[in-house]
Amino acid sequence: MNTVAIQHQRVLSGMRPTGRLHLGHYHGVLKNWVQLQHEYECFLFVADWHALTTHYEDPSIIEQSVWDMVVDWLAAGISPGSAKMFIQSKVPEHAELYTLLSMITPLSWLERVPSYKDQQEKLKEKDLATYGFLGYPLLQSADILIYKAGMVPVGEDQVAHVELTREVARRFNHLYGREPDFEEKAKQAAKKMGKKNAKMLFKYRKEYQEKGDVEALKVAQALLESQQNISIGDKERLFGYLEGSGKIILPEPQALLTPASKMPGLDGQKMSKSYNNTIALRDDTDNVATKLRTMPTDPARVRRNDPGDPGKCPVWQFHRVYSSADTCQWVQDGCKHATIGCLECKQPIIDAVLMELKPIQDRAREYEGDMSAVKAIINEGNAAAREVARDTLEEVRKAMGIAYL
Ligand code: TRP
Ligand code: SF4
Repeated sequence: MNTVAIQHQRVLSGMRPTGRLHLGHYHGVLKNWVQLQHEYECFLFVADWHALTTHYEDPSIIEQSVWDMVVDWLAAGISPGSAKMFIQSKVPEHAELYTLLSMITPLSWLERVPSYKDQQEKLKEKDLATYGFLGYPLLQSADILIYKAGMVPVGEDQVAHVELTREVARRFNHLYGREPDFEEKAKQAAKKMGKKNAKMLFKYRKEYQEKGDVEALKVAQALLESQQNISIGDKERLFGYLEGSGKIILPEPQALLTPASKMPGLDGQKMSKSYNNTIALRDDTDNVATKLRTMPTDPARVRRNDPGDPGKCPVWQFHRVYSSADTCQWVQDGCKHATIGCLECKQPIIDAVLMELKPIQDRAREYEGDMSAVKAIINEGNAAAREVARDTLEEVRKAMGIAYL
């Protein structure tokens, strides 16, 4: 398959091994992955090298975190039949591409990535003035580009990294996709489409390049895609020719922005381990019920007959995620008129969360009891990922003039 066709069907995303996942991960990321795995070819990986960029002083927790996270992925419904799951450090090709890309990446591009300074400020107790930490976003670029992924589902905080990836890919294609006789080769290739098609292709190309008509570009790409008797190399030339670049070797990915999760933490802030306000996917029933029963409510409701305001209550945020319109109405009325108690109000949430967690926990238990099966799934994912990664690297080595022997 040619680069552009691959790009349009492939999704890649990664997660740092942070241990057991919670409802925030589930609603924010995992449900989205589960959906995507049925629509695209998905590569999902554990970013263990990324964990080392910030936790190099205490690597002892990484291994357990990796397996805890993978079990939670599987429990949440990521299926090895649909998605390739693997571990970054088991596909060392990422590191080679990272090295090669570092040759062409201006230092200033990395220094101006917002997370570089932000995280150094935030994690003051850690020395993050390391080369690895500066290079982190470029490692992420290599993660993405090595699979020629077109779509990268990420949260807001990662968009700048995908943007960097696009710039690096553009620079790479610009530097290495230019064959000396590129124009001529592209025109020769177009001829193989037949006169009529070639003419259309040139027309759309002009509309895109002169007027920025993105629709025209899409039509032209589809036309090119459908050609049967053009070689992959020629197609790649023509895709590049359409966009005004050289041959496209590394396609530019798009960030698939994950809608900010509505899932709040137990205290109404964002659910996060560092705020200690989480419900983990594998918290047992009693623990979940206790956490919810003791979560704070509108402080105005000291007594049962003090009226409250759901707008000031984290429990209401949970209702917005879990409850029907009728139940929401019941909460609004009951809270404002003090006709329901807070424990009563929480009961539907407790039921809904437990019901949501039940199938997840059942699956988690199965996988926990059979870690060799989990490891086999990851081993297979590693191998499948490596195969793809190797092919890309071969092209990159060729383009950069080091494909000898
Ligand atoms: N940096 C991401 C995070 O902290 C994890 C990550 C690493 C990633 N490489 C990636 C995400 C590639 C998407 C694509 O969440
Ligand atoms: Fe919150 Fe419900 Fe109590 Fe109102 S009744 S304060 S919404 S828990």
